[in-house]
Amino acid sequence: MSKKVLVTGGAGYIGSHTVVELIRAGYEPLILDDYRNSEPSVIQRLKQIIGKEPEHVVCDVCDQNKIDEVFQTFDISGVIHFAAYKAVGESVENPLKYYSNNISGLNSILNVIKRNPQIPFVFSSSCTVYGEPSGVKEVDEKTERAIPTSPYGYTKWLGEQIIEDLFKSQGDLKMMSLRYFNPIGAHESGIIGELPVGKPNNLLPFITQTAAGLHNELTIFGNDYPTHDGTCIRDYIHVVDLAEAHVKAIDYLFTQEKGCNEIINIGTGKGTSVLDLVRTFERENNIKLNYSFGPRRSGDVIEIYANVDYALSLINWKAKKDIKDAVKDAWNWEKSIRDLK
Ligand code: WQD
Repeated sequence: MSKKVLVTGGAGYIGSHTVVELIRAGYEPLILDDYRNSEPSVIQRLKQIIGKEPEHVVCDVCDQNKIDEVFQTFDISGVIHFAAYKAVGESVENPLKYYSNNISGLNSILNVIKRNPQIPFVFSSSCTVYGEPSGVKEVDEKTERAIPTSPYGYTKWLGEQIIEDLFKSQGDLKMMSLRYFNPIGAHESGIIGELPVGKPNNLLPFITQTAAGLHNELTIFGNDYPTHDGTCIRDYIHVVDLAEAHVKAIDYLFTQEKGCNEIINIGTGKGTSVLDLVRTFERENNIKLNYSFGPRRSGDVIEIYANVDYALSLINWKAKKDIKDAVKDAWNWEKSIRDLK
C-alpha cells in the first residue's frame, strides 16, 4: 500500500512538479489547495502527465477545523507544505497578507503534526533567510541567517524558527526545511510550469514572456555590481530537480526512527549572472531577446549561491539538470500556454 503524502499548495508551481515526482517514486500524493495562487486546470494537466487524476481537496490551509477534518478523513503518512504566498515585491506592499497566510497556514499544519509525531513534515523554505550574506557568496547551512529583506523572507525565517522551537519542545517530530535557491524551468512535457499571476517579478518568466511578445523588453536591474559582468548572481535550479529533492527529503524522514529537524540548501552549487542567463536563453532557443539596463532593484542581493554538500551527504540528492535545460523547458512551456509554435 503506497504512502499517502499531503501536498499543501500542490496545484502551484513547485507543488505540481513535486506531485509528478512523488507518483514516479511510488507515493500517493493528496493535493490540498484553494487555488488562490494557482488554477484548478492544473489538476487536469497533471492527469495528462501521470495518466490519472491526482487525489485533491479544496481547502484553505489556514482553516484549522478543515485541516483537522482532512487528517481525520484521509490516512496521511507524510506532509510537504508548500502553500504560501511568495512574491517578494508584493509582500513589501501588503505585509499583513503574507504574515497572516504564510504563518497561520504553517501553524495549522504543525498543530496536527504535533499530535501525530509519526507523520514526517517537509517545509518549503528559501535562501532568502540568508539575506545579503556578509562577505560570503557560497552559503552553507551553517551560514548565519540574516535579517530578511522582505516580509516574504521574514515568513520563511520565522517559519524555520517556529519549527525549531516546536522541535525543542517535542523532540520526537521528524521535520526538514528545504532552502530553495532560484527555482526555474518547467516539466519537459510543457504541460505544467510557472503561471505567474500578473506581471512576473522573477527573471526567467519575464524573459520568456518578453520573447513571447508580452513585453517590449526585459530591464536588467543594474549592471554596475561587483561581479564578472556587472549583473547579480544567483543559483538557478531546475524545478524538476527541486521536486526530486522533496521526494528524497520525505524518503529520508520515513526512514528515521528518532526525531530530527534538518535544514538543507537546495541549489546547483553554481552561480549564474542575469546576463549569463539571458545569453543562455538566447543561445539555447535561438532567439534574440530585447533588453536594456536599468537602475538597481532595492533589496537585491549581489551574489549568492548554495554549498550543496549536505544535500548530497544526508539525502543523497544533487541537481542533475542545468540552466540550458531550464531555459529550453521554460520557453517550451511559455510557447505551449501562448499557443506559439
Ligand atoms: C533574480 C535576478 C533581479 C527580474 C527569488 C524569489 C524568492 C526566492 C529566491 C524562493 C535579480 C534580476 C529580475 C527582471 C532583472 N525563491 N531581474 N529583471 O530576487 O533572487 O528571488 O528567488 O523562495 O522567493 O523571489 O529572484 O528572479 O526576482 O531576480 O534584472 O525583470 O534577476 O534584479 O538580480 P530573486 P528574481
